Amino acid sequence: MSETSSESWKRRFLYTAKSDDRSRMRAVANNLILHLHPTKVPAPALRWSYTWGLGGISALLATLLALTGALLMFRYDASVERAYTSIQFLETQVFFGSLVRAIHHWSANLLIVTVFLHLLRVFYSGGFMKGRATNWLIGIILLMLVVAFNFTGYLLPWDQLAYWAITVGTSLLGYVPLVGATVSNFLLAGPEVGQGALRNFYAIHVAVLPAVLVLLMSYHFWKVRKDGGISQPEAPAAEEGKKRRPFQRLTTIPHLVRLELTAALVVIAILVLWAMLVPAPLEELANPAHPTNPAKAAWYFMGLQELLLHMHPLAAMIFPGIVLLAIIVIPYWDKNEAGIGIYFRSPVGAFMALAGAIFALASVPLLVLADEYLIDLPALLPTWPTLLSNGLIPLLLSLAGLAVIYAIMRLGARANHSESLVGLFTFVVVGFIILTFIGVFFRGANMAFVIPF
Ligand code: HEM
Repeated sequence: MSETSSESWKRRFLYTAKSDDRSRMRAVANNLILHLHPTKVPAPALRWSYTWGLGGISALLATLLALTGALLMFRYDASVERAYTSIQFLETQVFFGSLVRAIHHWSANLLIVTVFLHLLRVFYSGGFMKGRATNWLIGIILLMLVVAFNFTGYLLPWDQLAYWAITVGTSLLGYVPLVGATVSNFLLAGPEVGQGALRNFYAIHVAVLPAVLVLLMSYHFWKVRKDGGISQPEAPAAEEGKKRRPFQRLTTIPHLVRLELTAALVVIAILVLWAMLVPAPLEELANPAHPTNPAKAAWYFMGLQELLLHMHPLAAMIFPGIVLLAIIVIPYWDKNEAGIGIYFRSPVGAFMALAGAIFALASVPLLVLADEYLIDLPALLPTWPTLLSNGLIPLLLSLAGLAVIYAIMRLGARANHSESLVGLFTFVVVGFIILTFIGVFFRGANMAFVIPF
């Protein structure tokens, strides 16, 4: 009798009766893998172009960060007198110190990108549907944790870049209504960045955040399994009178593991090569008396800092706050489960996404330039308090602009609610990326608009 595929799989990968060391090690490794994954996965979920491996790559980067971070802790000293020199020592005197620091630095930056792209993939493929709302919410908290990790780590080298980016970053926090100033004071252990802030940031970076991240990441993975594995398209409809035939299921070992290992090796190879060629930055020792000009926040906050140049600080915090809230509630806002597992939900959804992206590319730079050179609301309404002229008015106009985009997609292009949300979401994401680009590359001394080339 010929062997079935499941028997062959068990024989090759789960057979533990042999007592030689290699079989035992293989059994242990396989058991570990099968604690993380189900034994079989539907074929569509295995398509590389479905997940792009982004969740797994994010997990890999988090692991690399933990390993390299642990090594850095052996030499780093969290005191304002010695932090900078301990990093210099690491860079010049410690065997492979510079490489370990560069891997840590670049993995941290890449992690922000991969987690953000993972969020986009989950949104566009409807991965938040069918009972996955909790994991969507956990994911958003994970994204915030990753940003918090980067933010707290930024200060540790105690160079000019670190000092002024954190000073700007925490001043942005101060604009958050009601709690902002208290949180900023608590984080900095006082009104300014100093020894208290360095000690707090270090403790949060190496103890508090890792503990929360490990807990939430474990829950995130467990929940993916609990929710029935990752999302996938509906199986093709069956012929008349017959039941829907489920997709073919492939064994995790070797099919999924082979993909994961390949992705991990490629990411590690590229990262190490990049870290060998581009060292982590280290400017002069922090000098609280000499601000850098321009004083910019870290790149992932530059979209917010750019917004602050165009609106009253309160409005510039409320607007992204409303957008974030809308993203958090997406699973409840869009309950239509049609199109799960299909990118952009439908061809109309894909068209809406394209339209949203093109419209953002055309309108956001124009609005920035118009506000820079043409429109001056406080001058047009001199008797109004700036909170109204430069706060409430631009805030309401921005929200109305988003509502108009949604309405045009719904009524003008006859897209359904989900497809219109895909278009609106794309507009917001592309708009935010453009603001970030403008903030990073097109702002010079005193944050004036400059052409970088
Ligand atoms: C440290 C950050 C994160 C890690 C390590 C992580 C890891 C993963 C992994 C490994 C998967 C399964 C495979 C895959 O989709 O690639 C997954 C699925 C999922 N993630 Fe994340 N994730 C993170 C952040 C996020 C964020 C920011 C969101 C969205 C707000 C999110 C929402 C989800 C959801 C809803 C699923 C199920 C998707 C589906 O069924 O298609 N995750 N995550």
